[in-house]
Amino acid sequence: MSELGPDDEREISAGPLPGDGDLDAGLRPRSLADFIGQPRVCEQLELVLHGAKGRGGTPDHILLSGPPGLGKTSLAMIIASEMGAAIRVTSGPALERAGDLAAMLSNLVDGDVLFIDEIHRIARPAEEMLYLAMEDFRVDVVVGKGPGATSIPLDVAPFTLVGATTRSGSLTGPLRDRFGFTAHMEFYETTELVRVLRRSAGILGITLLGDASSEIASRSRGTPRIANRLLRRVRDYAEVRGDGIVTVDIARAALEVYDVDELGFDRLDRAVLNALVRGFGGGPVGVSTLAVAVGEEPATVEEVCEPFLVRAGMVARTPRGRVATAAAWHHLGLTPPADALNASFGVRTREIATDSLFDDL
Ligand SMILES: Nc1ncnc2c1ncn2[C@@H]1O[C@H](COP(=O)(O)OP(=O)(O)OP(=O)(O)O)[C@@H](O)[C@H]1O
Ligand SMILES: [Mg+2]
Repeated sequence: MSELGPDDEREISAGPLPGDGDLDAGLRPRSLADFIGQPRVCEQLELVLHGAKGRGGTPDHILLSGPPGLGKTSLAMIIASEMGAAIRVTSGPALERAGDLAAMLSNLVDGDVLFIDEIHRIARPAEEMLYLAMEDFRVDVVVGKGPGATSIPLDVAPFTLVGATTRSGSLTGPLRDRFGFTAHMEFYETTELVRVLRRSAGILGITLLGDASSEIASRSRGTPRIANRLLRRVRDYAEVRGDGIVTVDIARAALEVYDVDELGFDRLDRAVLNALVRGFGGGPVGVSTLAVAVGEEPATVEEVCEPFLVRAGMVARTPRGRVATAAAWHHLGLTPPADALNASFGVRTREIATDSLFDDL
């Protein structure tokens, strides 16, 4: 991989890093009341869950969609605990054969929550079996092959499927349609991340003074998982170089060591911006060309750097390629050309179609 390091070594990676596991689990909110941010999603979910509880039935199947690290797995667990139900956990890639899914489904008891993470990666035969299970709480298990094959219908206990996906666009229409409720998770506001950080600091016994929490929050890319990780890095710094108390100055100095700038960009993000602005005059340039320029895989640039650069208003996706906005030029200390894109309002003076400008956020 590149000298910038693969994504699983980046402090600002929104996906889990080795070592996050236990701490992530300890910091997970346990109830809807404990869940910070996502007010719309929480309100809607509360209605769905309490409505079902009042009727004594199971809630509709629920799809949680959004970028990594925003709390999808946490919410799935909260759904089960709010319903007083057990949760069975599996993932799309683990359901390679229909038989794998049939085994899971036949073990469910009334009211269980079946959580399928990365549901967009489910194999086709399992997906088709899921249609019937979601709709009629029934599966047809095919026994044997060829002309002698028979299909044996099996009843499945009424359950709620909770699917999580970082790519709802990759879900097939029939699968998406079978969810009664879809929660779109948004990136968090800085003020919400401040609350996440204060809560985590309380659990971990870390003292955050003054604006230290907002200093960390504003560099956390709208993502609680990143906020929690940066908090731990800052704590290490405070304990080794100071007296363990986290002040603004300590937070700032620590995050400088880890190369996370004021906007939450790290070296790879800045390399991409630099290549786009300095190397290609602001674009438009194709994502694979951009990836070669920074020595990365196109998928890393497209799925890891870009969503946040787009969200931060630095880069726009256009049908002709990626384009740097005026803000990107300013961030690098350069004067943007007169026709540079002004992303904050989706306004442009250059001849570019805007239809896909803010896709896939
Ligand atoms: N609303 C929240 N309040 C407090 N902490 C949160 C919240 N959402 C997420 N977190 C923290 O972020 C961590 C990551 O959340 P979670 O594992 O639920 O994300 P995810 O969306 O499932 O990510 P992925 O797509 O990688 O599976 C949690 O362990 C928790 O510490
Ligand atoms: Mg998850």
